[in-house]
Amino acid sequence: MERVYVADALKKTGETVTVRGFVDNLRDSKYMTFIVLKDITGKVQITIEKEKHPEWEELLAGLTGDSVISVVGEVNANDYVKMGGVEILPSEISVDSVAEALPIARKAIPATKKKKEVERSSIDQRIDYRWIDLRTDENQLMFKVQTVMVNAMRKFLLDRNFIEIHTPKLIGAASESGADVFAVEYFDRQAYLAQSPQFYKQMAMAAGFERIFETGPVFRAEKSYTNRHTTEFTGFDLEFSYINSVKDVMKMEEELLTDMLREVKEAYGEQIKELFGKEVIVPTTPFPVIDLQDLYAALEKEYGYVAPEEEKGDLTTEAEQLSFRYAQEKFGHEFLFVTGYSVDKRPFYHMRDEQGMPQGYDLIWRGVEITTGAQREHRYEILKKQAQEKGLDQDVQFYLEFFRYGCPPHGGFGLGVDRMTMLLLDVSIKEAMFLFRGPNRLTP
Ligand code: 4AD
Ligand code: MG
Repeated sequence: MERVYVADALKKTGETVTVRGFVDNLRDSKYMTFIVLKDITGKVQITIEKEKHPEWEELLAGLTGDSVISVVGEVNANDYVKMGGVEILPSEISVDSVAEALPIARKAIPATKKKKEVERSSIDQRIDYRWIDLRTDENQLMFKVQTVMVNAMRKFLLDRNFIEIHTPKLIGAASESGADVFAVEYFDRQAYLAQSPQFYKQMAMAAGFERIFETGPVFRAEKSYTNRHTTEFTGFDLEFSYINSVKDVMKMEEELLTDMLREVKEAYGEQIKELFGKEVIVPTTPFPVIDLQDLYAALEKEYGYVAPEEEKGDLTTEAEQLSFRYAQEKFGHEFLFVTGYSVDKRPFYHMRDEQGMPQGYDLIWRGVEITTGAQREHRYEILKKQAQEKGLDQDVQFYLEFFRYGCPPHGGFGLGVDRMTMLLLDVSIKEAMFLFRGPNRLTP
């Protein structure tokens, strides 16, 4: 018989179904055995009257939590069953895979009369056995949410004539600042892992694609041990032509994110609240915008925060965090666009205005940067000069070529998908990634 999902089986009262999944819970009493079977769609109780099935005695005695089983049985309405008032009365049970005792505790197990409390394993211990950790309701929800997130953004852009591209991650030159890049052996030469699809997004502009996006891996050789840095993450990047200013880029981003959060809320708002205790808030547009120096002045006035003078060209971590409080109190908003970063803190490819101010921004959500975006310099001579100033003109010669044979004005931004997941659900980046990569973590 064809297997049905648990969520569908629960609706088939009176019918015989086949369900397959993990043993989520096992309870054995004198006359009864209760198995909670879990698949990706839900959980169902399998109720076994031992007297009726002496042939299963051995099978049940050897069954362990997290084993994988297949069950054929009748779906029975029963008000005493907590899980949806439905149970399955099995006629066949088979074990596909027996689980050994688990090496981690995914959650704390409260003390009983016989046993002491078991503490929850640390996130690092859980990552060692991430596939077991990923079986929890919370973790599975997280990746369903991320799917909706990326899919909503993809759909939004496809509806607006964006083309999806896939650019190389093995490249001949560093793609951002030259720092924080992983060098890899490439036959008899050195290659680098892409720190961003930046250069190729812009090549697509020179190719006349007009509007493109890409979602893919981004590598950063940063020795950061924070709750929001990783050495490999998933970026969602886009770039588009014929903009009039960076404001067009910001507008595209706020509309994209508003649409995405609306879809996430619709699909999973309730479950996110239930399992993570977080409200998904669909923002209003336009998002508030503030100049970096005005923000520093406001943080000092409102909260007495003073950043070291030499760091005021960029947003300090403390200011970033405090800016969430400010955005909420001043604008009633969770997002804040910050503009007016100093030239030495921004990449050479950002366009500058007559005063030399980079035409870029960061978007801060719940006190963490999720995006850097900008209008790009598309005029060859100026771009070359800006690269020279940063001592990068040799490295980026191939990139500069993109601008010699006609290139429309353009801009774009890069979003960190893992950061957004982490902020949406209020977990650390290690928890938010399918598999975290950090300075000390290359396995599993
Ligand atoms: O701010 P970043 O470095 O900007 C760029 O890569 C530009 N090329 C984007 C552009 O189009 N101008 O990276 C973009 C985003 C960050 O805002 C952050 O969300 C995420 O990528 N990010 C990281 N996420 C996790 N760990 C790290 N080490 C990250 N570094 C950046
Ligand atoms: Mg940035």
